[in-house]
Amino acid sequence: MKAITYKAFGGTDVLEITDEPQPVIQADQVLVHVKAVAINPLDWKIRKGEMKLMSGSRFPKHTGTDFAGIVVAIGSSVTSVKEGDAVFGTVKNNMKEGVLGEYVAVPSTLVWKKPVAINFVQAASIPTVGAAAVMALQKIGKTTTQSRVLVNGAAGGFGMFLLQLLKRNGANTTAVAATHALSTVKQWGANSVVDYTKENVLTKGITYDAVVDLSGKMGYKKAQQLMNVNSVFIDPIPNPVDILLTPIKNLFSSKKHVVLLSTPARETIDFLVKAINDGLDIEVSNVFPFAQSKEAYDYAEKGGYIGKVAIDVN
Ligand SMILES: NC(=O)c1ccc[n+]([C@@H]2O[C@H](COP(=O)([O-])OP(=O)(O)OC[C@H]3O[C@@H](n4cnc5c(N)ncnc54)[C@H](OP(=O)(O)O)[C@@H]3O)[C@@H](O)[C@H]2O)c1
Repeated sequence: MKAITYKAFGGTDVLEITDEPQPVIQADQVLVHVKAVAINPLDWKIRKGEMKLMSGSRFPKHTGTDFAGIVVAIGSSVTSVKEGDAVFGTVKNNMKEGVLGEYVAVPSTLVWKKPVAINFVQAASIPTVGAAAVMALQKIGKTTTQSRVLVNGAAGGFGMFLLQLLKRNGANTTAVAATHALSTVKQWGANSVVDYTKENVLTKGITYDAVVDLSGKMGYKKAQQLMNVNSVFIDPIPNPVDILLTPIKNLFSSKKHVVLLSTPARETIDFLVKAINDGLDIEVSNVFPFAQSKEAYDYAEKGGYIGKVAIDVN
């Protein structure tokens, strides 16, 4: 089968199409004929060697975390899906595995039946950012129309899910995005918008009950000036020191720094599927063919897209 691999850390130039044997499944696994893979920023952070401590430095490496496709074989103990089912899923260890190729073998607990209302590229877009958005919602806690939430960097995949979920919870949300994305983030549920190419959200004099930084450019230190007493800063891009020290620092501050490390648990994905069946929108603004996977990453890594970027594998 064909797969995208790389033999050294680096830019998109290290990506190559290789031929390799089809994966062999274990008793608890399913083999999926991959139809679509959605791109996540984590893919290129790993490829550039930014996560070396967790990814290790063994090559060749595969890339891509979230996929959708058709089940073509199931292990002897699998009962949750059958051959021919359309599914979407993710890998067990996104630091060591990659799904961008014609077939993938994963535990049956990490695939879910594709909602009929969405296509394969939309389904592949769900696991990592969808689960992270649900987790962010839980960490923000109960919201009312009086609760002010700021989502900084709202036009990507994570923001797409989070804005729509916050809207359903009745929060009063402000989205920070670039000019071309302002109308979209409003459609996703933002009550007000800030154009980061023209204004600095830090100097607008408005404070929030929750600040979610999806851009990685604000950070807790700056965010504090936007935070009310008893508010939270949700941080999905923490550094290792933050992961270790925030629980202790939070004991002494009413402005909590909350690190978010998502895992797509079954109940989280079930919750998302219900929201999708109720009309939650998944926008995949650009889809590239498999042969242009390198171009897909070039495009995604430049930024400026809306929602998700995906690869049509087959
Ligand atoms: N910890 C976890 O479990 C977890 C899970 C999922 C995602 N994440 C991380 O969360 C982050 C967001 O995920 P994503 O998939 O939504 O990424 P994304 O699609 O790259 O979205 C990031 C957004 O930030 C915007 N941005 C860039 N510079 C900005 C600035 N100065 N001010 C305001 N916004 C700015 C970008 O807009 P333009 O492109 O228009 O510039 C883009 O829309 C990523 O770093 C991802 O790795 C973490």
